Amino acid sequence: MATELLCLKNVHAHYGSSHVLHGVSFSLKQGELLALLGRNGAGKTTTMLTLSGLLAASDGEILLRGKRMDKLSPEAIARQGIRLVPQGRRVFANLSVQENLEVAAQRREIPAPWNLARVYDMFPQLKSRAKQRAGTLSGGEQQMLVIGRALMGNPDVLLLDEPSEGLAPLIVHEVNNSIRKLKNEGLSIILVEQNLQVAQDLADQLVVLNIGQVAFDGSSEEVVAEPELATRHLGIF
Ligand SMILES: Nc1ncnc2c1ncn2[C@@H]1O[C@H](COP(=O)(O)OP(=O)(O)O)[C@@H](O)[C@H]1O
Ligand SMILES: [Mg+2]
Repeated sequence: MATELLCLKNVHAHYGSSHVLHGVSFSLKQGELLALLGRNGAGKTTTMLTLSGLLAASDGEILLRGKRMDKLSPEAIARQGIRLVPQGRRVFANLSVQENLEVAAQRREIPAPWNLARVYDMFPQLKSRAKQRAGTLSGGEQQMLVIGRALMGNPDVLLLDEPSEGLAPLIVHEVNNSIRKLKNEGLSIILVEQNLQVAQDLADQLVVLNIGQVAFDGSSEEVVAEPELATRHLGIF
């Protein structure tokens, strides 16, 4: 039985006076991939921002291996091992691919630390473009670069917010294969994903948000038993 690595307990979040997360609770198990789904505006990105400390939780608890994260700064949370790849893939456009990776390096005591060589193994295209300005990469390559940057931080938990958004189908396939490889290497991942099929394929656990609350939390197999879920909460018909 896998152990709980990251735990959200009754998490609330606000943007100013606007109450967006209304008591979100779920847990990510060590070495597993959790897909976070839900319609646009459901609160997926807000959950990711709250997990990484960029938005303060207004109530509830976030625990990494039982240790409170929700009062720490984003920098401290990253040092504890939670890394966010934000929605919208921003690279340092004027730095080279290699410089983008090097500035993101953070040493941490983990079993197989990431370095340039390992990131280039994971994403060979980045190696062949190491000296190229990051702003000139294709969308797919930029996505690989932002994931590579997060890996250079040696995370225990990788948060990926819609990495496939706006990419061509062939590239989406490639990015998803990389995510599968990372999971197979033992990384624990929360993936925000719009596509239920992809989520079912990659994830051990699926959490569906609806208006800032958990509408479903279960395995890929359990989703099959709830055909209404897709139409009600995912905008799939
Ligand atoms: N910076 C912000 N200020 C105010 N409201 C926001 C902000 N960002 C998102 N929201 C609102 O919070 C809700 C959840 O948004 P978000 O977490 O981005 O949803 P998702 O990622 O699931 O599409 C939406 O109603 C959205 O309009
Ligand atoms: Mg979002």
